[in-house]
Amino acid sequence: MPREQVETPASGSVRRKKLFIKTYGCQMNVYDSARMADVLAPLGYETSEQADDADLVVLNTCHIREKAAEKVFSDLGRLKPFKTARPKDQDPMLIAVAGCVAQAEGDALVARAPFVDIVMGPQTTHRLPELIARAHRSAGAVLDTDFPTDTKFDHLPPPRADGPTAFLSVQEGCDKFCTFCVVPYTRGAEYSRSAKTIVEEARGLVSDGVREITLLGQNVNAYHGDAIGGTGTWSLGRLIRALAEIDGLDRIRYTTSHPRDMDDDLIETHATVPALMPYLHLPVQSGSDRILDAMNRGHTRDTYYRIIERLRAGRPDIALSSDFIVGFPGETDDDFADTMKLIEDITFAQAYSFKYSARPGTPAAENSDQVPDDVKAARLSALQSLLSQQQKSFNAASVGQHLPVLLTGPGRHDGQMVGRSPYLQPVHLDAPATDYGMIVMTEITAAISNSLSAVAIDSTQESETQPVATRVDAH
Ligand code: SAH
Ligand code: SF4
Ligand code: F3S
Repeated sequence: MPREQVETPASGSVRRKKLFIKTYGCQMNVYDSARMADVLAPLGYETSEQADDADLVVLNTCHIREKAAEKVFSDLGRLKPFKTARPKDQDPMLIAVAGCVAQAEGDALVARAPFVDIVMGPQTTHRLPELIARAHRSAGAVLDTDFPTDTKFDHLPPPRADGPTAFLSVQEGCDKFCTFCVVPYTRGAEYSRSAKTIVEEARGLVSDGVREITLLGQNVNAYHGDAIGGTGTWSLGRLIRALAEIDGLDRIRYTTSHPRDMDDDLIETHATVPALMPYLHLPVQSGSDRILDAMNRGHTRDTYYRIIERLRAGRPDIALSSDFIVGFPGETDDDFADTMKLIEDITFAQAYSFKYSARPGTPAAENSDQVPDDVKAARLSALQSLLSQQQKSFNAASVGQHLPVLLTGPGRHDGQMVGRSPYLQPVHLDAPATDYGMIVMTEITAAISNSLSAVAIDSTQESETQPVATRVDAH
């Protein structure tokens, strides 16, 4: 149902309502939560930091690992007394569970938490106003876990900028079916938005003051949206080159990419487009060919080495990040040693690592060769200590460098601001609050655990790092 048919008071007469949203999981959820706030704003909902007196509480959930999914139920337990304590002369507090746990559990979620009013999957964000109206009329929970044939992007209002950086979803879903992963089941089949709608959304964000956009997708480099001005589709590299032409868009990033879709065009874009920041999150999961195969990743350890080699040939300073899973079913000490060797060979600027978590409905969960938790814990600790050493060395090597920093918020102390280097490192420096949203040239003075300290060397200078002129051979 179109939004305007749900509730249509003139804007002046809309009763102010409080909306509390808690977001779990990946950046796609962060993007969707912001869109929910956008879609509800015309109905009088204002975001609030407090759940206790909210008119609507949305938990936008993640199903990727057991811990993430279980957290939702403990949070629901904490919310229940707020709902019960609501004075009878007011509309009841509505509780909505959105996102990937909602998609995966549906009815089972309501059976476990019957006081939940709305259960909605990740593809029906635009139907939230309709679901609220139905929930107010209904005695039980309202469920919407369809994968609609039309896309939510066609129904959502243009996003509003909230500072100098923004996320922009370009691709959703996944067709890769890695044997450990729930995403193909919770987000559905792969879908790319048209290049036209993305460029329009990016232009709107930039005219609202955004200077850095991170393109999002579960498989962002599998992007193949309808081309602008012609037939066929555009790859992610082509899309990035079009976005780089937008005046005022200084920085472009993308996440999360898959090694299988790291094509020549995208690798070359890293070498030739200055606005594409020298940072890449490219999950490898494991360094063992045997485990990569069992995970159905569709590439080998050597493929990963070759991709990194070509990226570094075109952009030698590129900072690399990755995801690792330890203790995948059947992982031996030798397999794990292969992963440690890959980390030593490649060297990462930062990374995320997880103990394998068996997820209902995924093939690997059925495997009888599960690795005991104490083995997983020991491997995770060894792996994280190596990765954290590498992150420290990467940050220490930044000391003395001149890096442009995009200032994104207040720093730890009065008179300080924090921002991001091109390599996504948090950088703290003395700067007036009026510099918010500016790109300031700095000299890095110290590396403190995971962040950097710097001094501004010329606050009027706004040039970005230049990519190295070398081009990558396409073959
Ligand atoms: N699309 C991305 C990853 C999305 S999920 C990719 O293909 O790499 C984010 C990360 O969560 C994954 O990279 C993986 O490292 C981790 N993850 C996914 N399922 C997991 C599971 N069952 N147990 C532990 N970690 C998992
Ligand atoms: Fe999950 Fe694999 Fe798809 Fe990434 S590529 S979202 S890990 S199934
Ligand atoms: Fe989690 Fe769903 Fe994202 S499972 S990681 S919120 S796609």
